[in-house]
Amino acid sequence: MKVTVVGAGNVGATVANVLAAKNFCSEVVLIDIKEGLSEGKAMDIMQTAHILNFDTTVTGATAAIGDENGYAPTAGSDVVVITSGIPRKPGMSREDLIGTNSKIVGGVVDQALKYSPNAIFIIISNPMDAMTYLTIKNSKLPRNRVIGQGGMLDSSRFRYFLSKALQKAGYPATPTDIDGTVIGGHSDKTMVPLVSLATYRGIPITNFLDDAAITDAVEQTKVGGATLTKLLGTSAWYAPGAAAAAMVEAIALDAKKLMPCCVYLDGEYGEKDLCIGVPVILGKDGMEKIVEVKLEGAEKDKFAESVAAARDTNSKLGDALK
Ligand code: 2OP
Repeated sequence: MKVTVVGAGNVGATVANVLAAKNFCSEVVLIDIKEGLSEGKAMDIMQTAHILNFDTTVTGATAAIGDENGYAPTAGSDVVVITSGIPRKPGMSREDLIGTNSKIVGGVVDQALKYSPNAIFIIISNPMDAMTYLTIKNSKLPRNRVIGQGGMLDSSRFRYFLSKALQKAGYPATPTDIDGTVIGGHSDKTMVPLVSLATYRGIPITNFLDDAAITDAVEQTKVGGATLTKLLGTSAWYAPGAAAAAMVEAIALDAKKLMPCCVYLDGEYGEKDLCIGVPVILGKDGMEKIVEVKLEGAEKDKFAESVAAARDTNSKLGDALK
């Protein structure tokens, strides 16, 4: 299993680091436009090999924008993770990044695809749902091979905030005790944490928490990325990187894992020609199945609002769409 991670910033380097530590890839190539950045981070990660006991080889490469041959070291990758682009600063929404990042993402996908024509692409760059849509439209790849990372991250944040609420209510819960799924767009206003499916060790969360505590956990989940951006001065990386690495692992090991991911809908959930977060099965072919959850009441309405918002963002892709 060879994996390329495009972009050696905080998120990209975390993906490479987590992949190496998990020790299931033969090779991870970290590539960036900034001379020396990916080489340095790759060397730093490799110097943990003995300590963490992994055999994965992590290498760094530099490729300038538009450099025809710069992606040669990535050739034959099974999975390509795209983290390129600028992160948001405090006060910005992910959608504010669309103008800059659509040009960057469009370019690097072309470069990577030239050397890894059979790869499965995982998109992390924001606004992620629109970048996933852009990638699938421009590359003409089948939809199983272009998957956006958002739902795994948002669901993990939802579990974290629910565990905090449970602790406040007197229960010794940790995030691994919680089941929680977030669907919809990876967006502060329109992601949809599914309270109806949330459980604490299989018992509905409503059994333990009152409406106010649940609403608070939902709202904190929705702005989870913005909260961290405010604290850090830039967007988060540990959880986004770990979420993408979990997706790569499910694909690499053909694990058939159920994960909320951003995928292209072609009639599922009553929607077409749109990339948005829904539960899917990930295996060796990438997105192998879309799982339809019957949405009702407020959750159905919120998903419809999320769909409308994602379509609106896509309409701003302009001439980045080929
Ligand atoms: C986040 O939510 C970077 O979009 C990512 O932290």
